[in-house]
Amino acid sequence: MESPLRLQGSVALITGAASGIGRAIALRFAHEGADIAIADLNVEGGQAVAGEIQALGRTARVYRLDVANPDECRAVIERADADFGKLDILVNNAGIGHPRNLLDLTPEQWDQTFAVNTRGVFFCTQAAARLMIPRKRGKIINLASIAARMNGPQMIDYSASKAAVVSITQSTAKALAPHGITVNALAPGIVDTPLWRQLDREWAEIEGIPIGEMWKRRVAMIPLGRAEQPEDVAGVAAFLASKDADYMTGQTLHIEGGLVMV
Ligand SMILES: NC(=O)c1ccc[n+]([C@@H]2O[C@H](COP(=O)([O-])OP(=O)(O)OC[C@H]3O[C@@H](n4cnc5c(N)ncnc54)[C@H](O)[C@@H]3O)[C@@H](O)[C@H]2O)c1
Repeated sequence: MESPLRLQGSVALITGAASGIGRAIALRFAHEGADIAIADLNVEGGQAVAGEIQALGRTARVYRLDVANPDECRAVIERADADFGKLDILVNNAGIGHPRNLLDLTPEQWDQTFAVNTRGVFFCTQAAARLMIPRKRGKIINLASIAARMNGPQMIDYSASKAAVVSITQSTAKALAPHGITVNALAPGIVDTPLWRQLDREWAEIEGIPIGEMWKRRVAMIPLGRAEQPEDVAGVAAFLASKDADYMTGQTLHIEGGLVMV
């Protein structure tokens, strides 16, 4: 018997879906039958992903969004809900990171990391919850990171912002559970995306090592013996967004090849 598409008829809004993990989640959800709202600062990249989704026979629309701006989060989520006629799934994926030495990290850099990675997650969640609560259903998935537990000395702000995402996942899961809405998080490891390539370049400069060296060192630590691909994350995201995960909430699932065994 052929298995049914897991997300047939659902509508998902995915932040940061123009690239990397967000793009892979968007494509996987579309494969599973969902229509997709792509919300990203990078509209051109978003349109390319929308084209790939449309080629799969699903609907995709692109919205320019800076998740660091709570008013924009609300406006875009309400607009997408009106355009698609509903919103079943929110994936808070947009995120940034830069390696910086302890003595160099500025208050502005700290605030920017938190504005995107942490405040963005909460205010998109709040905007989606306003729509989902009266409907008594919804699934919210946040991108945390292995960095929430495996701290690096040069990722202080990033690690703290992702630990806060784990905490927000748990407290919003409790707040939304009585309304039939689940909130869970994904914690990927060393994923081959444009973000990691940028981290690698910046690390090379800070450490005075060749480009590619930090990536090589990190991948060598992974028990499963290979770099993580965005699709490794997308499959678990599709599970969390599906009915199969209806009884899970407040959880952070680690997808990192065995780097941190919890
Ligand atoms: N790559 C990894 O190894 C890794 C590991 C763990 C967690 N993560 C997390 O996964 C998520 C996706 O990372 P990625 O590696 O795919 O990164 P990426 O840089 O490839 O993609 C991030 C996307 O987010 C968008 N974006 C950035 N700032 C934004 C903002 N203010 N508003 C809206 N969109 C914005 C970018 O335009 C881009 O399309 C991030 O939250 C990241 O922290 C990544």
